[in-house]
Amino acid sequence: MTDAYTPTASRFTDKVVIVTGAGAGIGWETARRFAAEGGKVAVFELDEAAGTSIAETIISDGGEAIALTVDVTDEESVAAAVATVVDTWGTVDVLVNNAGHGDPIYVSDMKVAEWNHLLTLNLGSIFVVSKAVWPIFAEKKKGAIVNASSITGSMAMFGLAAYGASKAGIATATRVMAIEGGKDGIRVNAISPGYILTPGFQEYIDIQDDPQAFHDSMALQSTLGRFGSPGDVAEGYLYLASDAAGWVTGTNLVVDGGITAGQLPDADPRN
Ligand SMILES: NC(=O)c1ccc[n+]([C@@H]2O[C@H](COP(=O)([O-])OP(=O)(O)OC[C@H]3O[C@@H](n4cnc5c(N)ncnc54)[C@H](O)[C@@H]3O)[C@@H](O)[C@H]2O)c1
Repeated sequence: MTDAYTPTASRFTDKVVIVTGAGAGIGWETARRFAAEGGKVAVFELDEAAGTSIAETIISDGGEAIALTVDVTDEESVAAAVATVVDTWGTVDVLVNNAGHGDPIYVSDMKVAEWNHLLTLNLGSIFVVSKAVWPIFAEKKKGAIVNASSITGSMAMFGLAAYGASKAGIATATRVMAIEGGKDGIRVNAISPGYILTPGFQEYIDIQDDPQAFHDSMALQSTLGRFGSPGDVAEGYLYLASDAAGWVTGTNLVVDGGITAGQLPDADPRN
């Protein structure tokens, strides 16, 4: 689950960073890298054991972390967790709205409750958690929010109507939050990952009729011929959250190995 990683900078020394959904996949690797660059990381995770596990990993690596069992869709749960972070470390500097999920369900099979759940989990949660930290950022005239969008927000994919709609909504909400937050020094950006080989994605590959063929067909949709790794996305989160991106707001950084750039490699007439 953990990528090989040697930190080359200390961009987050003494910065307080909330990472939602840090108990698995991209969030796990993101939390680890923020901590490796000096950040004090608050893990907001629904799965208590998973949240505790990443926090313990960070601490055993010499970093600082606390795990809080939080449902990012629940205003009271989020408010209590943010209050704990402020009690512990005095402030919040960075929010990474990473928690989200979406198993493919065709529209013809999808129940209304499933549609509503995905919109609430993916799109609703970025509003709930951002709203909880917004006054802290506004008061100190500085703060960075990075939201997990997806290439499925702009590229139609089978089974992902609700998921893709939620991710398109995140890209739009990100831009609105950016223009509203600018006067208070609040930067808001999004990341749109392509196919990232997380443990969850591997489980989805494993249930296909021909897992190897499915894996290869997905990997070859990238012009670089491979899946992305959690670390590929984590690097984008860290950049957008850092002062190096001090004049970057309202953007949506695509981290997809060229999947959405244009034609697939097999369309190259030189082949
Ligand atoms: N993996 C990909 O290929 C991919 C591609 C594009 C976008 N994304 C997005 O990146 C983000 C991370 O993806 P991932 O694949 O690492 O996800 P994942 O499913 O591996 O991990 C998500 C984590 O969020 C937690 N979580 C779920 N509901 C929660 C809730 N209500 N409150 C708090 N925590 C909750 C889960 O317990 C889990 O630990 C998601 O928003 C996802 O939509 C992923």
